[in-house]
Amino acid sequence: MKKIFLNLGRQPITNSFLNKIDKKTTKKEFFYNLSIGFDKKNFLVSIMNYVNPKKMFNSKYAHRASSSKTMRKSFQQIAFKLKKRFKPKKCLEIGSNDGVFIKNFNKKQIIAIEPCANLAKITRLEGFTTYSEFWSKQLAKKIVKLNCGIDLIYSANTISHIPNFKEVFDAVLIGLSKNGVFVFEDPYIGSVIQNNSYDQFYDEHAHLFSLLSISKLLSNTNLKIFDAEITQTHGGSIRFYICRKNSKFRETKSMKLLRFKEIQQGLNKFKTYKNFSNRVKGSKQNLLNLLKKLKKNDKKIISYGATYKSTTIFNYCNIGTDFIDYVIDTTPNKQGKFTPGKHIPITSPEKGLNNSVDYAFLGAWNFKREIELKEKNFLRRGGKFITHVPSVRII
Ligand code: TMP
Repeated sequence: MKKIFLNLGRQPITNSFLNKIDKKTTKKEFFYNLSIGFDKKNFLVSIMNYVNPKKMFNSKYAHRASSSKTMRKSFQQIAFKLKKRFKPKKCLEIGSNDGVFIKNFNKKQIIAIEPCANLAKITRLEGFTTYSEFWSKQLAKKIVKLNCGIDLIYSANTISHIPNFKEVFDAVLIGLSKNGVFVFEDPYIGSVIQNNSYDQFYDEHAHLFSLLSISKLLSNTNLKIFDAEITQTHGGSIRFYICRKNSKFRETKSMKLLRFKEIQQGLNKFKTYKNFSNRVKGSKQNLLNLLKKLKKNDKKIISYGATYKSTTIFNYCNIGTDFIDYVIDTTPNKQGKFTPGKHIPITSPEKGLNNSVDYAFLGAWNFKREIELKEKNFLRRGGKFITHVPSVRII
């Protein structure tokens, strides 16, 4: 039974950027209540009301995983690491987006699964076998029939999007070869608690995982975790290494240590989440106070990165064009549109980050270093970034 610890209020679909702002368009905008709960039986943190995946993952999906240099490099490194450690012959990625991971493999070696038709089209055109479907037992059966078992199933920022794990894990069991491995990574609840990054909660993140929760969830399946690691991706992610229960892999020492750290952090206790929820309320107040103060001094504030995360912040804190003039983002299909819920216009960094801007709120705070390096001119002429992670401040 999930018990609520945080209520982030009325929220839109984060991927629903609006083409225009008129009565007819805004009337059709879908909202739901975003509250987050903790299940003390399996230590899992999940949103209380799952949004129908078809509403989120469709042919209009805007996010392009390869739009950041940090992510391109990170996927290249993990692909290299996995090839070296497991020497897989046949591979598969669940949620291949625009192909940022699979590009590091031979086209004959890897299969892409991507339900968003617009993204599947990209990798298919590049010559990768791509199934534009949700990962399911049925699909796993079809793939195994055409190929032999899969030695490496990889997934990044996707498993946390799927409300029903049973289907995912059952399908993995169908797909994996005897000593095959399933490696997946998603934003880490331990980092969210530590960094006050409550904006990791949005419609797509049905769950935020810990080692404790995934261990519990797998305990009644024929899969086991044999390794796990924390990475810096997206401001703190967790990567799990999973295999069949009877496979050759043994639990690593670093995984045992991580389990111990999670217990020390209290990731198995409702109280930890309740305390976090109080800090989130404080973060909202501090951000509003800062923005009000800057506006009183006639400062121009914009936001950097039309991220899904910033949709949570803007809607929870009720921040619209009264504070943020516009959002800048490099993704061409976000430019010219309006942010979900608060309807802030989005433009390109070339047009938007001009001399009139005093402050830029880091909606894409998870790419802080990449952005600071890129925007040296903005900083040199006195422009400043604002962040809320781990606490609200001008950088
Ligand atoms: P994400 O945090 O969900 O990956 O989204 C990052 C967004 O920020 C994505 O829309 C691309 C955008 N972005 C920029 O506009 N400029 C940048 O330099 C970086 C790193 C990201």
